[in-house]
Amino acid sequence: MRNRIQAIRGVRDIFSTEAAYWLKLENALRTLAGIYGYQYIKLPILEQTLLFQRSIGDGTDIVSKEMYTFADKNGDSLTMRPEGTAGCVRAVNQHSLAYGEKCKLWYNGPMFRHERPQKGRYRQFEQFGMEAFGFQKADIEVDMLLFCHRLWEQLGLTEHVNLHVNTIGDLASREKYKAVLLDYLNSNAALIGDDIVRMRQNPLRMLDSKRPELAQIIADAPRLADYLSAESADFFAYFLDLLDKMSIKYNLKPSLVRGLDYYNDTVFEWSTDRLGAQSEICAGGRYDGLVADLGGKPNYAVGFAIGLDRVINLLECTNQLAKQHTVDVYLATEYQADIRARAYSLLEQWRTLLPSVKFQACLEDTSLKKQLQQANKHGAKYVVIIGGEEFAADTISVKFLNADIPQKMYTTKEFSEILIQEYKNDNG
Ligand code: HAM
Repeated sequence: MRNRIQAIRGVRDIFSTEAAYWLKLENALRTLAGIYGYQYIKLPILEQTLLFQRSIGDGTDIVSKEMYTFADKNGDSLTMRPEGTAGCVRAVNQHSLAYGEKCKLWYNGPMFRHERPQKGRYRQFEQFGMEAFGFQKADIEVDMLLFCHRLWEQLGLTEHVNLHVNTIGDLASREKYKAVLLDYLNSNAALIGDDIVRMRQNPLRMLDSKRPELAQIIADAPRLADYLSAESADFFAYFLDLLDKMSIKYNLKPSLVRGLDYYNDTVFEWSTDRLGAQSEICAGGRYDGLVADLGGKPNYAVGFAIGLDRVINLLECTNQLAKQHTVDVYLATEYQADIRARAYSLLEQWRTLLPSVKFQACLEDTSLKKQLQQANKHGAKYVVIIGGEEFAADTISVKFLNADIPQKMYTTKEFSEILIQEYKNDNG
């Protein structure tokens, strides 16, 4: 036998119950995005490498260590997107989507980062993201957080997630603070190789360090809040006030700085304590400088992305991934062309009449017993049987798999009425 080819490390197949939940989650996100007035944008996976270098930042872990970058056949350096914001801004600029008007967009799809794989951290993972352009005030941040808040509620996750917020100030506040922080960090002996490189590239990122030896140094570090410009302080105060008034609970987290370079002022993340180390399920913030940095007319911008793999993991560990039934009505018949033809015609009529109901027929030459086993395996509620007797009498027999009701004979009209009554309010 030849060797089986396996999927590559950090890249997963998703199937069975988990796949059914992905569809549910994606549908919920799509519907909710429409309700909040965000429009879908479908973006490419491949972009010029330069796009990510200029947006996420050369010194970040993503750009310096984790990108899937290669030269294509023309020798152009391409990268498989590690996130969606940069490509979205590129598209908004390229097609002038936000010139002179406001624009609220959403996207989803696979992202690629060459990280060390573990549960919740994959090399190919899915994000759902929202990006909004042209909104100066923090109302847009709140609009996005209300969206997330409603999503967690719909998914039954509210009690398992926490919102953390911070401000990293505008550029001027940050430059002032960086100098103070750098002085403070330099006077601390505990910094080692990687820390020093990080510190030189962006001292703010040191606040995000997970190294236990640095925990105390970080806790005692000067606070950016004390160096904010009046505008940034007012902006943040309004944001927090609105969150309070909308009863959205949050923790102020001064160490929250984010690992991408494009942010200013608001940064936020939703995390959970149910997933171990990979606790961050959603993150984002404001990035007013990026549109112009990527060659567009200066414009306000805010966005976030949800890590869908982690949301699914959270649904799983909070026991919300119940086994899905894949069939509602199973059709069991004898193996004879005229009986099968009648069965399939009936199914086609029902599929037209009841588009949200899942029908399946036996497609093999197999015993009634085996067909009933199949129906059970798929979680069917009804088995419609058409044997020789039913065929001759132009009727059907129905077996009720979930109820203590004896098998019963109906005309197709009678049973169609039963199905219509039962599923008329079902949206699938
Ligand atoms: P990010 O924090 O790098 O932000 O990623 C957002 C989310 O993607 C994370 O909170 C996490 O749930 C998920 N994620 C990241 N890496 C992995 C991985 N290796 N495996 C599984 N899930 C992962 C961004 O990407 C920004 N573009 C967010 C944003 C949008 N900011 C403004 N607009």
